[in-house]
Amino acid sequence: MYTVSLSPETDLHIVAADDTQRNAVFEAKVADDQFIEPKDWMPDAYRKTLIRQISQHAHSEIVGMLPEGNWLTRAPSLRRKAILLAKIQDECGHGLYLYSAAETLGISRDDMTEALHQGRAKYSTIFNYPTLTWADMGAIGWLVDGAAILNQVPLQRTSYGPYARAMVRICKEESFHQRQGYESMMVLAQGTEGQRRMAQDALNRWWWPSLMMFGPPDDQSPNSAQSMRWRIKRDSNDALRQKFVDVTVPQAQALGLTIPDPDLKWNETRNAYDYGAIDWAEFHAVVRGEGPVAKERLAARIDAWESNAWVRDAALAHEAKRSQRKAA
Ligand code: 3HC
Repeated sequence: MYTVSLSPETDLHIVAADDTQRNAVFEAKVADDQFIEPKDWMPDAYRKTLIRQISQHAHSEIVGMLPEGNWLTRAPSLRRKAILLAKIQDECGHGLYLYSAAETLGISRDDMTEALHQGRAKYSTIFNYPTLTWADMGAIGWLVDGAAILNQVPLQRTSYGPYARAMVRICKEESFHQRQGYESMMVLAQGTEGQRRMAQDALNRWWWPSLMMFGPPDDQSPNSAQSMRWRIKRDSNDALRQKFVDVTVPQAQALGLTIPDPDLKWNETRNAYDYGAIDWAEFHAVVRGEGPVAKERLAARIDAWESNAWVRDAALAHEAKRSQRKAA
């Protein structure tokens, strides 16, 4: 067993003789909370699970634009339309940062896109639910972006450098997403009886799918243990889910809305909320691609990719011409 003891003068760029030694240097860097960078040696399995997680994260951002895009032309005011437009553009940028972070691991954008289109790569289950009323825009910002913030803030300290740095930028924008959603829900909850009912209906439909965003229970998560040992994941699925419940319940109370969970109750001993059973059969069905609007979401992505191929071709042709001129 080859061990590396880290000290300020340890030169971690030592060229280790074999993979055992390289792995020891890798493990020592992770244990020392140092970033692993693209040029560093890393175990294939580490690279593979990062490509899996980062590309799925990127796909989620891009597919996540669709439910909100569905309401852009029906926003109730210019102000709401401008806010929603800004948020959707942010999500596109988040996808860009994350695809770029994944590309540093040696996978191409085209390969990631193909994996999504062929159903070999996942995106967050939450985006396979329909957005039925304007209140869903508020519920998505408040709950979905609220859940995303809790899941993404720890990822600013994930062990892979490009992923952590992408998350710093993304988290700054995510806070605006959550606040605008909550403010929209507040306007509705304090509006007419019809608006209040619309807000409650949206909360009823988005609450449980938001809890599922954090992934399966820890004891059913095949990736968590290893991802936490590699400090890719800093908190477990259940820990973040619990944090989300504890933060969000008082927000719902402040809105005067009811969380659709009859088993929700404050547990003094745990200093946390106990909550009801999540329908994991529904979660696994949606992960399998059986979500209410899963087919429409994927079809929309494939259609966008194919009908905008000319934009990519034009940009690549322009780039080729520029490089030719520079080389001449
Ligand atoms: N939707 C779809 N698939 C999910 C899922 C979800 N909500 N939760 C878990 N899964 C999948 C996992 O991908 C894994 O399948 P795979 O091995 O084939 O990839 C399987 O279910 C088992 O789950 P694990 O807990 O073992 O998997 P992870 O350790 O990867 O944990 C995760 C799942 C917590 C989602 C983790 O991947 C993660 O933190 N990802 C990065 C953050 C992210 O993707 N956030 C959600 C979407 S981003 C967003 O909401 C945009 C915002 O702007 C609105």
